[in-house]
Amino acid sequence: MTGKMPERTGRTLTLRRPDDAHLHLRDGEALAAVVGATAAQFARAVVMPNLRPPVRTAADAQAYRARIVAALPAAAAFEPLMTLYLTEQTDPNAMAAAKAAGVFGCKLYPAGATTNSDAGVREIARVDEVLAAMAEAGLPLLIHGEVTDEEVDVFDREAVFVERTLAPLVARHPRLRVVLEHVTSATGVAFVASAREGVAATLTAHHLLIDRNAMLVGGIRPHLYCLPILKTRADREALLQAATSGSPRFMLGTDSAPHEVGRKESECGCAGSYTAPVALQLYAEAFESVGRLDRLEAFASAHFADFHGLPRNEGTVTLVEEEVAVPSALPFGDGADGPLRVRPFRAGESVRWRVSYGV
Ligand code: NCD
Ligand code: ZN
Repeated sequence: MTGKMPERTGRTLTLRRPDDAHLHLRDGEALAAVVGATAAQFARAVVMPNLRPPVRTAADAQAYRARIVAALPAAAAFEPLMTLYLTEQTDPNAMAAAKAAGVFGCKLYPAGATTNSDAGVREIARVDEVLAAMAEAGLPLLIHGEVTDEEVDVFDREAVFVERTLAPLVARHPRLRVVLEHVTSATGVAFVASAREGVAATLTAHHLLIDRNAMLVGGIRPHLYCLPILKTRADREALLQAATSGSPRFMLGTDSAPHEVGRKESECGCAGSYTAPVALQLYAEAFESVGRLDRLEAFASAHFADFHGLPRNEGTVTLVEEEVAVPSALPFGDGADGPLRVRPFRAGESVRWRVSYGV
């Protein structure tokens, strides 16, 4: 042994620049701290509206978009696609104008389902007119698919939502484009796979890679707590199968959801995993685990654009097979008591690919 590591040439994988169909960018200093990580990998991302207060109108979305663009690193070529947060007060008559103003779609949060969802919808019937107006205007409905009924176990909330709420909604609005965001269960996948045309789902990297054992066995790992919650191994296998099946209904959406370390490591920690800095690498690992790296490009760079009738991105990104260390914490702006930190997924460990441009 010379002590010198052999040079790892490794494989490379070049993809058309991908899209992130589901992303939390936050606001203010946190936004400035995280947006570069996504812009380094993705050409576009659908930006979730669950700020405090939520992004409710086209004017809110335009103002938020301007803050995102202002926070981008110099020379970043990144397009934020803006969404509105549906409430029971959303005006059906505002939908056509929102579309004309460049709004991408609307997000449905059942009230109380997740982070900053208290302004969400309590009774779906109360937004039926808005949904009809969205279908008319060509705005897709992006859904956090979980019931909030106290009687329903947290691990069953997606499956119950699919049966009680999603299936009837999809039938009631036959021309509405509907996306079941961050699908996490075998039931959710089966519904989307056999639903009518115009129904799709996004899949996170972390739900493809880990199940609830990773969060709960040998100690509780708060940074793996996200919503919808990680489910069983069988659910994860169904998600992997769907993601790598080649079906255009299944597309990449990270649900990267950064929270300051202290708010995760707490008596009542927030939901959300911060995957953006290593997103493509994690998806590559998931696809490789089932020998389907050949299907990563369509999942990451074609299905979203095709489903929503957008042009596919120009340009490429290259993954180089190489072990890369993930920092144990990253800056997240300044709090009242000093600098804040966010812990990325795989913190203190490594990923097996490096993302590179121009290779
Ligand atoms: C998201 C967040 O923190 O905004 N959290 C999460 O666990 N995914 C909200 C969400 O998408 O549910
Ligand atoms: Zn989310």
